[in-house]
Amino acid sequence: AVERARRVQREFLANVSHELKTPLTSLIGFSQALVDGSIATDLERTRAATIVHEESERVLRMAQELLDLARVETGSISLHITAVDLAGHLQQELAMVRPRAEGRDLVLEIDVPSDIPPVAADPERLHQVLDNLMDNAVKYAPAGSKVLASARLIGGSVETVVSNPTGPNAPDAERMFERFYRADPSRSGAAGGVGLGLAISKELASAMGGRLWADIDGPGNLRVHLTLPAAKARQPASLPAVTA
Ligand SMILES: Nc1ncnc2c1ncn2[C@@H]1O[C@H](COP(=O)(O)OP(=O)(O)OP(=O)(O)O)[C@@H](O)[C@H]1O
Ligand SMILES: [Mg+2]
Repeated sequence: AVERARRVQREFLANVSHELKTPLTSLIGFSQALVDGSIATDLERTRAATIVHEESERVLRMAQELLDLARVETGSISLHITAVDLAGHLQQELAMVRPRAEGRDLVLEIDVPSDIPPVAADPERLHQVLDNLMDNAVKYAPAGSKVLASARLIGGSVETVVSNPTGPNAPDAERMFERFYRADPSRSGAAGGVGLGLAISKELASAMGGRLWADIDGPGNLRVHLTLPAAKARQPASLPAVTA
């Protein structure tokens, strides 16, 4: 077990260094060229500056994700659990990704019954998880396909499902929650992430008393499921005390 933990740790560090080296190498190369004045045309200079900008954002995002991962793992994030309007959050997420979805010709649909109860969650962390799920769907669904976000009440839990066709690069529904897993490692830069979003989201979901997992249905839709406890209807404070 100790040996296994060491190996996981080694692989993690190797991944981190690799993921940092790639953007940093291009940052150094392109910024050097900009400093040198060795780029001939304005167009090329703009292109180089754009790459510098995008790669810097990627490094920053990765630093934030690693920090989040460390925090959830050591249990040092503080959660503020309250009753959260899940339907409202989903609508908001959808509105946020809509411009990107339209750019990729995706149809976004939401299917949430009007009587869905609020969930017991930390609103900011819930936002982070939903944001990761919607960002993935809009990023990886094949152009022209449909992304569906639905929710339903099962027992005392609310299950949210975000589904989309996988296209040719079907991810492994179990391994996709591993750190740095990417179904298509050739996607890089703005087109792909570093593979930490779902690993973090899974930790956040379980920290909130919920669960995050995925499967692929018959027609080939990836379905990412998030369950969270339904918020209990608040007891009126003035309820008469029960006498024994
Ligand atoms: N909705 C989806 N449809 C198809 N493939 C997906 C979907 N969500 C995730 N994947 C696959 O699972 C991999 C891991 O997803 P994850 O969100 O953890 O990382 P990422 O999106 O690559 O990077 P990050 O989220 O850290 O920016 C993705 O690279 C992609 O291959
Ligand atoms: Mg992601």
